Order: sequence, then structure tokens, then C-alpha cells
Amino acid sequence: MRKKVIAGNWKMNMLPNETIEYIEKFSKLVENSDNEVILCVPYIDLFYCLLNCQGTNIKVGAQNVHFEEKGAYTGEVSAKMLKSIGVEYVIIGHSERRQYFGETDESVNKKVKAALENGLKPIICVGESLEQREQGLTENIIRNQTKLALEGISKEQMSNIIIAYEPIWAIGTGKTATSEDANNSIKAIRDEVSKVYDKEVAENTIIQYGGSVKSSNAKELFETSDIDGGLVGGASLVPEEFAKIVNYNK
Ligand code: PGA
Repeated sequence: MRKKVIAGNWKMNMLPNETIEYIEKFSKLVENSDNEVILCVPYIDLFYCLLNCQGTNIKVGAQNVHFEEKGAYTGEVSAKMLKSIGVEYVIIGHSERRQYFGETDESVNKKVKAALENGLKPIICVGESLEQREQGLTENIIRNQTKLALEGISKEQMSNIIIAYEPIWAIGTGKTATSEDANNSIKAIRDEVSKVYDKEVAENTIIQYGGSVKSSNAKELFETSDIDGGLVGGASLVPEEFAKIVNYNK
């Protein structure tokens, strides 16, 4: 049985002092959860987050990483750097990065490799735009993004990878994919993983849903056959609300 993994994506929100206050409240609310809890926070908050999550069941992730180990890449942060302070996860290929910062399937794949080589666990985001969905391209797009992100990744490395299906039209819009629809897309992604590797790897891969997940829809989404938890943006900024999502099965 796959476990449920619920990750918060704070995006470009929260200052260090807000991070400390958040964790003080949030850690108490989720301490008895049987689901895995991850907070993916801005670089500036990572160290505070790591310090304050010590001794809790909260794992810490970054939201981006550069694929080179070091060098003349002003403003970038490498996987080795993240690992050195104790970061465990990193979101790679979020649609906002693909859309606004020129992230491509090729750079996503390079980042996934760099993360794994340095002992970080990637949360790889895939998802179609509204236009692509209306043209009936959803399955093609997400299968292709999945395949390209995983190019050159070994079967053994797959146990350290999470995939997040995030339809772009559902992110931050209040529009959620229906649980049936999201589950079907995730089944397609799982089938693609099975094609690249095998059925066993596919059955063991954690695949989350993301896009306007809230406490009011989390249960319905997470109780489907193939959705293994969520990547939560807006609703993860309020500790009480995010804790309700994490505790959806309580
Ligand atoms: P949202 O964002 O929950 O605010 O829609 C999800 C995401 O972008 O990861």
C-alpha cells in the first residue's frame, strides 16, 4: 500500500518570523498524522524551517534547484547546497517555473538527476494547460512530460521520486479537477511509469494531485484509487487549514 504524502508549496510567501510562528502552531496540529507531511518553502525560510521542524514529523523541501553543482550561476542554488543544510525534498518543474522562468522538459530532467545524485527527493510537477485540455491533449501532454522528466533515471532511483499532477487551469483558480478526472489523469501517469519501468515500480510510485486542494475537497480527492496525497499551494499558507488537509482521514 502506498502512503499518502501531503506537501505544502508556499511559493513566494512567508518571512522567516512567519515561518517560525507557523511551525509552532502547525507542528502540534499534525503530530499524530499517519500521512507524510512536507513543507516546501522559499530559500530564505529553509534554515528557519529546518531548525524549527527538528523533532517533529514535518519534512522540509525547497521549491527549485539548479542542475549544476557550483559555478558562475548568479542567484542560483545547487542540490549540494540544499542537501548540506538538511533539506530532503525539492519541487522540480512546477508549472509557474515552466511558464515564467523558461523551465523546459530538458532542464527539468537535468534538475531531477542533480537532485537524486545529491540525495534530494524530487517532487516532479506535470500538468496540462486549459487550451491543451480543450484540445483533448491532456493525456498526451502528461505522459510526455513524465517520460521526459524520467529520462535516464534508474528503476532504483524511482523510490525517491514523487510525481505531482497539477492541471495548470486548476492552480490558484479555485477550480479543482473532479476527483474522478484527477484520478484518471494520475492513472495515465502511472501507466506511463509502468511503460518506462514496470508495473511494480508504477504501483509503488507516489503520485499527488495539486490545484486548489482545500480542506473541503481533500478527502474526496485523496480517497480515490490512485491519488496519493496532494501538493497544496494557497491552502498551505494557513496552518489550521493545511493541518485539516493533512488530517483529512481523521
Ligand atoms: P494551489 O497551488 O493549491 O494554490 O492551487 C497548487 C500548486 O501550485 O502547487
